[in-house]
Amino acid sequence: MKKTKNIGVLTSGGDGPGMNAAIRASVRTAIYYGYKVFGIYQGYTGLIHDKITELTSRDVGGIINRGGTILQTSRCKEFREYNGRKCAFENMKKYDMNALIVIGGDGSFRGLHDLINEFKIQGIGLPGTIDNDLFGTDFTIGFDTAVNTALDAIDRIRDTATSHARLFIIEVMGRHSGYLAEYSGIGGGAEDILIPETITDIKKICDKLEKGHRNGKRSSILVVAEGDEAGNAFEIKKKIEKVVNWEIRVSILGHIQRGGSPMAIDRLIATRMGYEAVLAIKRGETDKMVGMDKDTAILTPLKKTWTIKKKIDPSLVKMLDILST
Ligand code: F6P
Repeated sequence: MKKTKNIGVLTSGGDGPGMNAAIRASVRTAIYYGYKVFGIYQGYTGLIHDKITELTSRDVGGIINRGGTILQTSRCKEFREYNGRKCAFENMKKYDMNALIVIGGDGSFRGLHDLINEFKIQGIGLPGTIDNDLFGTDFTIGFDTAVNTALDAIDRIRDTATSHARLFIIEVMGRHSGYLAEYSGIGGGAEDILIPETITDIKKICDKLEKGHRNGKRSSILVVAEGDEAGNAFEIKKKIEKVVNWEIRVSILGHIQRGGSPMAIDRLIATRMGYEAVLAIKRGETDKMVGMDKDTAILTPLKKTWTIKKKIDPSLVKMLDILST
């Protein structure tokens, strides 16, 4: 491994609260250890099209509390091709940069892994996604804030649901992952959660809803992950209203889950991960992701973060089932 010269930092894919805290920590730690740091704007798009600026400690001041990402982001199709990555590498050479810190999700890590192996650069990933779907970390940056945002919405919906005696089907984000649905469903006291990791049994759900109704429940809430195999919230509504004789409303929470000031947990894990990323680069580590295993920062080979499926704990699903009677 060549000696690290300059370090580039970028955010890629869907943004999430806490990304700015991770940028701040990586930039300041890198400067502390004598590296020059470049901020790359709009993710891999900025690396290909030279949207690159040197960052000072002052440039990352006053951002730890801000949602979104000051470096902006993109889902960059060009970077999926070898030629796109070659252009990116040429720009890295231009700035004498041979190490990258990439804050993003699985798609961003696949790109980083390819860049590392094709051009022998050094790269460390930080898990930045509200989906919490990366193997190698208990929590990803943005997940906790997104759960809190969803919970706030669920609590508000519960008020109106109870007033009107309605069933609400609330759709949260998660194209391939049910973490957000599971955590916000448990925290919001939902009657059930519908997630891509488990087979949705509409009949069982309807039986449960009707039983609850008979037992005097005035409202019910189902939390659906957008990627549930039984369909989206409107499709689920159609299936349920064939069986249950109740007024049903749908609420899609959408992108509000991605915004907002990061909660304490996101600020803390993002800060620790940003700090650890630079220490890892300094030690010569590469092709790895920094994650949190309980209270300890750990490294996992990048490829494992998306090839090993992070499992939803089935005992939590069972617990929700028992508690929602
Ligand atoms: O970043 C993850 C995520 O928020 C998913 O939960 C969601 O399915 C997707 O991004 C939405 O992406 P976009 O903002 O590009 O529509």
